[in-house]
Amino acid sequence: MDTQVVIIGGGPSGLLLSQLLNREGIATVILERSGRAHVLSRIRAGILEWGSVEMLREAGVGARMDREGFVHDGTYLTDEDQMVHIDFHALTGKRVMVYGQTEVTQDLYRAQDAMGTTIVHGVEDVRILDLDGAQASVEYVLNGERKRLSCAYVAGCDGFHGVSRKTIPEDRRREFERVYPFGWLGILSHTPPVSDELIYANSPRGFALASMRNANLVRCYVQVPLSDKVEDWSDARFWEEFSRRLPAQAAERLVTGPSIEKSIAPLRSFVSEPLRWGRLFLVGDAAHIVPPTGAKGLNLAVSDVFYLHQALSAALKTGDETGIDGYSARALNRIWKAMRFSWQMTTMLHRFDGEDSFAAQMRRASLRHLAESETARRDLAENYVGLPY
Ligand code: FAD
Ligand code: DHB
Repeated sequence: MDTQVVIIGGGPSGLLLSQLLNREGIATVILERSGRAHVLSRIRAGILEWGSVEMLREAGVGARMDREGFVHDGTYLTDEDQMVHIDFHALTGKRVMVYGQTEVTQDLYRAQDAMGTTIVHGVEDVRILDLDGAQASVEYVLNGERKRLSCAYVAGCDGFHGVSRKTIPEDRRREFERVYPFGWLGILSHTPPVSDELIYANSPRGFALASMRNANLVRCYVQVPLSDKVEDWSDARFWEEFSRRLPAQAAERLVTGPSIEKSIAPLRSFVSEPLRWGRLFLVGDAAHIVPPTGAKGLNLAVSDVFYLHQALSAALKTGDETGIDGYSARALNRIWKAMRFSWQMTTMLHRFDGEDSFAAQMRRASLRHLAESETARRDLAENYVGLPY
C-alpha cells in the first residue's frame, strides 16, 4: 500500500484531518487541484466555535491563533436602530474566536510541511477507485502524467465542486437543497471595526454584517441580488449601502477606506447523504453547504474531521470499525442541527425579493422576542458557539 489515507483536497478539512492523523502516526497523502497561493488567497470564514479552537490546539496549530486571534464574548443582532446583544459567555459559559480561515489554512500548511507530509498541488482528473475492495486506489494526472496511489481509505475533502461526492452513484445518495435568491457581497478593508463585536443587521434595505479580523482590518458584507456583479459595486457604493443598513449608533462610527478584496458568494443550504461509500468518507463542503449567516461552514468541517479522525484512527490502529460504520450518522446528526440554525438565522435577517408584508413583521417579531427573552437569546447563543460534538 502506498499510504494509509489519501486525502482529496487541501483546504481546511483535508489539512486538519491529515495533521491529526499524522500526529497519531498514520500516513497520508494530500492531493490538491490548486496551487498553494490560490488556496491561501481565498477569503472565507472568520469565526471559530470554541470546539474548533480546541481542535486546532489539539492538532498543534493553536499557537498563532492564541496570540493573534480575538476572543469575543458575544454579538449584536439589530432591527433598524434596535441593537440586541447576545452575551454568549453569560448565557452559555462559552466564547468564540475571531481568526480567519486563511490564517487557519496557513498554520496548517506550515505544520504539515514540518511533519513532512506529501501535499501534491496541481493534480487533475482525480478518480477514486476500488472502494469496495480490500484496498482503495486513487488515480490522478500530474504534469500530464497519470499516477496511481493505493490506500486503506480515501477522505473526500474537496469542497462542493469536488469529485468525491460524485463518486457515490447517483441512485445511492440523497441530496437536500435550498438555494436562496440572493448572495453576500463582501469586502476586506484596512479600517477599524464599527463595534467591539460583530453586528448582524436586519434592515428594510436587506441584511448587512459588520465583521472584523483585527483592530485595523474589517470584513463587511451586504446582501445583494444574485444578478449583481462585483464590478457593479464601487467601494463608495458599498460603504454607502453598508452604512444605511447599520443602526445609527454604529453607522456614525463607520470609517471607510479602499477595499483590498471584494467578492460575491451565493447562499445555499445543501446536504448529501450518506457520508460514507465503502472506503470513501465525505468531509466538510464536499458533503454539505450552509448559508454563512450562522458562521457554521468552517466549524462544521472541523466537527466532521473530529469524528472521522477518531474513526479512522481506531480502524487503522486496532481494527475497530465501529467508528467508521457510525461516522455518517454521527456527523449528520450535528450537520442537520447546524443546517437548521443557519437557515433560521438567514430567514430572520434577510429580505426576500417579492416577499409579502407579513415576512418583515415576522423578522421584526423574532428580533423583539430575542430582545425580551433570555430563553430565546440562550437558544441562539448555544447554537452560535457550537453544539457539543
Ligand atoms: P474547501 O475550503 O472548499 O476546500 C476544498 C479543497 O479541495 C480546495 O482547496 C479545492 O481547490 C480542492 N479541490 C476541489 N476539487 C478538487 C479535485 N477534484 N481534486 C483535488 N482537489 C480539489 N463559511 C463561514 O463560516 N463564513 C463565511 O463567511 C464563509 N464564506 C465563504 C465564502 C465562499 C466563497 C465559500 C465558497 C465558502 C465560504 N464559507 C464560509 C464556507 C467555508 O469557507 C467552508 O465551509 C470551508 O472552506 C470548508 O472547508 P473544506 O476544506 O471542506 O472545503
Ligand atoms: C464572517 C463570516 C460569517 O459568515 C459570519 O457569520 C461571521 C463572520 C467573517 O467573514 O468574518
